[in-house]
Amino acid sequence: MSGWSRKDLLDLQTLSQQEIDLILETAKSFKEVSTREVKKVPALRGKTVVSLFIENSTRTRASFELAAKRLSADIINISAGGSSISKGETVLDTARNIEAMNVDAIIVRHSSAGVPNQLAQNLKASIINAGDGCREHPTQALLDMFTIKEKLGKIEGLRVAIIGDILHSRVARSNIWGLTKLGARVTVCGPSTLMPVGIEKMGVQTTSDLGHVIKESDVLMVLRIQLERQRDNFLPSLREYAKQFGINKEKLNQAKKNVLIMHPGPTNRGLELSADVADGEYSVILDQVTNGVAIRMAVLYLLLASA
Ligand code: CP
Repeated sequence: MSGWSRKDLLDLQTLSQQEIDLILETAKSFKEVSTREVKKVPALRGKTVVSLFIENSTRTRASFELAAKRLSADIINISAGGSSISKGETVLDTARNIEAMNVDAIIVRHSSAGVPNQLAQNLKASIINAGDGCREHPTQALLDMFTIKEKLGKIEGLRVAIIGDILHSRVARSNIWGLTKLGARVTVCGPSTLMPVGIEKMGVQTTSDLGHVIKESDVLMVLRIQLERQRDNFLPSLREYAKQFGINKEKLNQAKKNVLIMHPGPTNRGLELSADVADGEYSVILDQVTNGVAIRMAVLYLLLASA
């Protein structure tokens, strides 16, 4: 497949519309592999991938591992607790040692923004950002865009609302870069304390009027409230947040009839989403997870097949 020349996937900020389209198209052709009885193609036979997760994950880590295996690559997983990072080794030294074992790609998640870029500058192996601090989570946004396109047939011209803790959200940032490049009209909605100063410069509208956003949007992308940050008093109370910004069935009565409810996970049921909305007719949350495997197969394939 032509049109891809990057060594790494670090963000959506620097990807072109054509590169994003290429990943989405490639994922489309890989999605079918996961529905086969034998869920495997030989595309990356002989390639070695390491996932280096220095922050917890369920979806991203599992789907990268499944993606690599379905492409016939070898993959091993390393986490902070079970590695020499817990003895004080730097992430860069750890990654250099992994690379010395002749690996082709390292998938990295880290709580500090910029770690994947630092590894990419210092290593010959391909680096894939699986989430760095509050900065970017490119494969999450790619799978979100894939799901929107699959369900609504397009992205251009759609109104997408990203709701909740925008300040701390790498998912929000990657989606804003990606969705605006593909022509969506993006509004971010949340409490003023969780709204980054100057976010409008990314080409989005801001509001705290959830009712208006629900009425006008084609997609409601709901973010997790990061409970681990609540000691910093960003919100007066969680109950107050749920009342003003939580999505429930009653509020959804005002929504468009084909609205999509999305959430990157993990969800706090009853806080940002009621359980009947999370599991309800408009929810595509599990479709997002399914599509994550296809997107990660596409990313691994584009980075490694001709490397
Ligand atoms: N959406 C997401 O990144 O989920 P995990 O933290 O489980 O990987």
